Amino acid sequence: MDKLSVGLLGFGTVGTGVVHLLTNEQEKFRQQTGTQILINKILVKDPDKIRKIDQYNQLLTTEPSDIVDNPEIDIVIEVMGGIEESRKHIHTALKNKKHVITANKDLMALHGSELLQAAANQGCDLYYEASVGGGIPILRGLTDGLAADRIKKLIGIVNGTTNYILSKMSHHSVSYEEVLQEAQSLGFAESDPSSDVEGLDAARKMVILSHLAYSIPVTLDDVVVEGITHVAEEDILYSKKLGYTIKLVGIAELDNGEIDVRVAPTLLPTNHPLASVDNEYNAIYVYGHSVGETMFYGPGAGELPTAIAVVSDLISVAKNMKHGINGQHIFLPQNEKKLKPADSIESQYFLRLHVKDEPGALSKITGLFNEQEMSLQKVIQEPIVSKKLAEVVIITHTTNQQRFEQIYQLLADLDVVIDVKSNYRVEGMN
Ligand SMILES: NC(=O)c1ccc[n+]([C@@H]2O[C@H](COP(=O)([O-])OP(=O)(O)OC[C@H]3O[C@@H](n4cnc5c(N)ncnc54)[C@H](OP(=O)(O)O)[C@@H]3O)[C@@H](O)[C@H]2O)c1
Repeated sequence: MDKLSVGLLGFGTVGTGVVHLLTNEQEKFRQQTGTQILINKILVKDPDKIRKIDQYNQLLTTEPSDIVDNPEIDIVIEVMGGIEESRKHIHTALKNKKHVITANKDLMALHGSELLQAAANQGCDLYYEASVGGGIPILRGLTDGLAADRIKKLIGIVNGTTNYILSKMSHHSVSYEEVLQEAQSLGFAESDPSSDVEGLDAARKMVILSHLAYSIPVTLDDVVVEGITHVAEEDILYSKKLGYTIKLVGIAELDNGEIDVRVAPTLLPTNHPLASVDNEYNAIYVYGHSVGETMFYGPGAGELPTAIAVVSDLISVAKNMKHGINGQHIFLPQNEKKLKPADSIESQYFLRLHVKDEPGALSKITGLFNEQEMSLQKVIQEPIVSKKLAEVVIITHTTNQQRFEQIYQLLADLDVVIDVKSNYRVEGMN
């Protein structure tokens, strides 16, 4: 096997990075794999588009079967995005016994099990390192580096757009709307940012991480998802005063065989390593039974960082081919799924309330917590003179979700409480 032939589905941001690496790092890859990796064809939508790299224009095609049915091609790299079309092309490629690499988190979160099963049936590789955390080798970190450990919990900042927005809101005291506009003009946020800001992109990545960390077939429907659109400047301001930072995090936790996976804006202590992950950077914090705490940090997207993950997968496929072990690294969920009930999901909570600015209001609120036997870790009260009311901000001690929901309702019904403005979980204390 002195030559390997690769077909690319897509020549956009990631595709361009992959072609760049395959062009400029040939010698390094040949040393690692003992073979030369050659680009055979590249699928695009618009063949007349001006490309950053134009030396492969003669390889462009708009016909997917030039790649997925091409007997000369050994490995297909799917970097076109979307779901149904790419799913169909990957199935065809696998049927034709081609190994597949994809960067497509949307596809892997929704149809990963089906595609992995198809790959296993065909004795083909299907790698997808770039689908979570861009250039951060987190999937390999879980399946190889931490393979011997039992993972208790993952906390991930896995969406660069929302991390950029919350970082800017926190460091420059600006509103969500202002930062979103700026992020869109700089290209850090899409013109339709809903999948990012509503938490769906992060939820999809948490599905992929949960499969690998726990070998449990979690689906998107199992993930509780809350985005960042309602995070107010006041929430960030009070969090800071109390020693916390708000981040959109994905959390996947396994306890007594029961799993909880969620994505939500969450308070982290400012001295927690994840609190200093700013702007478009990503990080995944892993709690293992034996290893303790580890953090995987790096660029979560971008042309070359993402391409590094894709081409590293390509090197794995080439090495597997050399040793005749393709399809043997497919990781299918082995464990039964049991979701954690609300009365065993534990957390601390942050609450921000608008209350009547009258004597005894605060003691009525703290009295309610006393009656309900829920202790408070921090309480601050500040008048909002212009509105003739006061703002009360509370951080509770650890409680379970069911108890918190009951107390939340009692608080909202209290005569001195005008409005419960926000509530977030507080993580990272243990
Ligand atoms: N960008 C990142 O930093 C990043 C990070 C991690 C994962 N990913 C994932 O990587 C994948 C690719 O992302 P990207 O940012 O590189 O996308 P992109 O810049 O939009 O590029 C998509 C490429 O696919 C081609 N394409 C799209 N639909 C097609 C169709 N129906 N038929 C033929 N060609 C088609 C486009 O052709 P034209 O060039 O002719 O338009 C383009 O070359 C996505 O799944 C994304 O989620 C991206």
